[in-house]
Amino acid sequence: MKTGYLQFHPELGNPAKNIEKIKYLLKDKEFDLMVLPELANTGYLFNTKEELIKLSEKAGEGNFYDSLFEIAKTKNAYIVSGFAESDGEKIYNSAMLVSPEGIKGIYRKTHLFYEEKKLFTPGNYGLKTFSISTENETIKIGIMICFDWAFPEAARTLALQGSQIICHPSNLVMPYCQKAMFARAVENRVFVITANRYGTDVSGDKSISFTGGSVLLDCSGNYLASAPIDKDEVFIAGINPGDALNKFINPNNNLFEDRKEEFYYN
Ligand code: ACM
Repeated sequence: MKTGYLQFHPELGNPAKNIEKIKYLLKDKEFDLMVLPELANTGYLFNTKEELIKLSEKAGEGNFYDSLFEIAKTKNAYIVSGFAESDGEKIYNSAMLVSPEGIKGIYRKTHLFYEEKKLFTPGNYGLKTFSISTENETIKIGIMICFDWAFPEAARTLALQGSQIICHPSNLVMPYCQKAMFARAVENRVFVITANRYGTDVSGDKSISFTGGSVLLDCSGNYLASAPIDKDEVFIAGINPGDALNKFINPNNNLFEDRKEEFYYN
C-alpha cells in the first residue's frame, strides 16, 4: 500500500488558497492513503469563535470537503485531513476520512491544547477505527489529532481496536512528538503517520510557530521519513500494513496478550 503525508504551511484564514496548495502538491502523486495536517483548511491561530466559525465546514459539506473528495476520486485513494468542523453553534477540531465514494468518517479531537479550549468543543465521538479497502487489501486505520499524542491511551485504544496505521494530522508547537511517536509505534506495533505543518501564524499581537518534521514510522519503529522543519514535503512509502497485525516482539512476548489490565489505573 502506498501511503504518506503532506506537510505544508496553511495560510491563516484562507481555505481557498490552502486547497489550491494541496491540489498542487498532490497533482503528480500516486497513493492509496494520504494524511494532511490538522486544521488544513483554516490555519490555527484564531482569537475568537466568530472568526473561525465563518471558515468552518459541516462534516461532508463545503468547498474544502468537495475538493478533497475530487482528489480522492481522481486518485482512487483515501485522504485524512484536519479541518475546522461546525455543528450548529459548536466548532470541533476534526479530521475527515474521505474515500473515492465520499465521506467515510469523522474524528473530533479529544484532547484540546492550550487556547484551543476557548474555541473548540472537545470531541464527543471517542477514538475511532475505520476500514479502508484498496484493490489488494482491506485494512484498519485510526485517527488522532496532534496533542492526542501526549495521552498514550489514545494510540493504545486505536491499536486495541485493530488500527494498523495511526493517521495523525498535527499542528505541533512543541518538539517532542516526532520522537514520542517512536514509542507509540513500537509499544503498539502500528504504523504511524504524523502529518505536521510548518510556518508561523500571526494574528494581531499574537503569533505561534509550528515545528514541521512530519514523520512516517513502520511498526518496528523505523523512521521511513522525517520531513524538514520548514518546507513543503509530500512523502509516500510502500508499506505492508499486515505487519502490524503481528503483535509478537519475540516468540514469548505478545504486546497485547501480555497486558495486565488488572494492575492498570483506570
Ligand atoms: C496541538 O495540539 N495542535 C499542539
